[in-house]
Amino acid sequence: MTSVIDGSPVPGGRTIPSTNPALLNEVVGEVSFGDAGTVVRAAESAKKAQESWAAIPAPIRGRAIAHIGRLIEDNAEALARLVTAEIGKPYGEALGEVREIVDTCDFFLGEGRRLYGQTVPSEMPDKQLFTFRRPVGTVAVITAGNFPVAVPAWYIVPALLSGNTIVWKPAEYSAVTSAAFHDLVVRGGGLPDGVFNVVFADGAETFAGLERSLEAGLIDKVGFTGSSAVGREIGALTGRHLQTACLELGGKNPLVVTPSADLDLAVEGALFSGFGTAGQRCTSLGTVIVHESVHDQFLASFNAAVAGAKVGDPTQDVVMGPMLDEKFAARYEEYLDWIQPHHAVQAAYGRITADNPRDGFVGDPSTGLYYHPVVVDGVRAGDRMFMEETFGPIVGITRYQSLNEAIELANAPGYGLSSSIYTTDPKDAFTFRDKISAGMVSINNSTSGAEAHLPFGGNGRSGNGSRQSGIWVLDQFTRWQAVNWDYSGRLQKAQMDILELTPDTTFRL
Ligand code: UN1
Repeated sequence: MTSVIDGSPVPGGRTIPSTNPALLNEVVGEVSFGDAGTVVRAAESAKKAQESWAAIPAPIRGRAIAHIGRLIEDNAEALARLVTAEIGKPYGEALGEVREIVDTCDFFLGEGRRLYGQTVPSEMPDKQLFTFRRPVGTVAVITAGNFPVAVPAWYIVPALLSGNTIVWKPAEYSAVTSAAFHDLVVRGGGLPDGVFNVVFADGAETFAGLERSLEAGLIDKVGFTGSSAVGREIGALTGRHLQTACLELGGKNPLVVTPSADLDLAVEGALFSGFGTAGQRCTSLGTVIVHESVHDQFLASFNAAVAGAKVGDPTQDVVMGPMLDEKFAARYEEYLDWIQPHHAVQAAYGRITADNPRDGFVGDPSTGLYYHPVVVDGVRAGDRMFMEETFGPIVGITRYQSLNEAIELANAPGYGLSSSIYTTDPKDAFTFRDKISAGMVSINNSTSGAEAHLPFGGNGRSGNGSRQSGIWVLDQFTRWQAVNWDYSGRLQKAQMDILELTPDTTFRL
């Protein structure tokens, strides 16, 4: 895999293997890494291609998106197999991820025939007002590897549709899948050279290249999905260039279980959102906040469900496969150190090995980065486990007495991406919706699994308020242009040369 700039492969200075986290001896592909200069070259190429890309009529760009969607659909199994091989996402979930790209294309292919502007009445005669959406220009997209193709598509599809050109820096550990996606998009869309460039580079080189590109005026917008810490840096860097990045950051997503909840449903939701993608979604469940009256019952069924969940080979029908990559496994081990004496963990935790086995494991745990799913009861508001995102298969449980207390607990970590409440009481549901800080609220559904045409994004430590998906993301990749056209033949001054009707303010019935 090499970077592709202006339609040509650009080999980098060093090559690193991308391995299968379920079969660590298997090299999925060799990735050639560029440096800051590669990022700048890609930005130059995007800049050069932008004007002519924007000049292609939007409905034609919409057709390109339609073709991309069909090509992805026709290659869905192959692409999903690659996702599973490179990051260990269970195949069923990987197929769902590919489906999410197709859904995004299906939404935006029609947007090419809309991209509506408005006609607005003027306060003066013989004058017309209009608004137009204009592309921002060149977009740098930097994405994580837990959704190596769906989340990039959330940026890339609407950005292309609205006339922008792109430099994409995918995660290092999902580069082979990213290269395949890049190929499908360029070929499917029949995209001219330079419209969609991909760069493989590490975080530090990417940041340096981004800084240089911003200074040179080559990048007009940055989209970033990843940690809150890096998001802060990107936000500060773009802020210095009077830009607002589209930031999709971490989460500590709460799931509240009220006394009226259907507990089986809540357990099912907690299992999927806690341990799907091995807990490595930004929307993964952080803490279950359960009413004290149903705590013991919920905990017992949740522990039983977790104990019975299939863990293992992601090509099989499992709830949970391995960690994405060594880096994530190592960091997850640090999170496990946050388990305190006042916490209660019913089952084994840590790496699954011959000495620390898991009943019913599917396959051979010694081949990959497999960890026990773990439920930690008794977490408290001040605990690190409660306050920080713990990207991996670990779910905390705490209890509450009043709904207000539950909402306070849910908001306490200061993230605000996704949230969930299980209840059959409409008052609880609406109170929660009103007071929760999260950008996304599920009622009787898990914290993860957002549909691809609702606004996706968070507040607080989860982002800067930007939203992706659906019509809402268009505000990230276009700028409103306001036009007024005066054909009166004279200078009519706004707020001054206006007709005033005289009201009879003293009239009474
Ligand atoms: C992410 O983990 O960055 O809502 C995105 C979900 C998925 C997307 C997650 N549709 O869980």
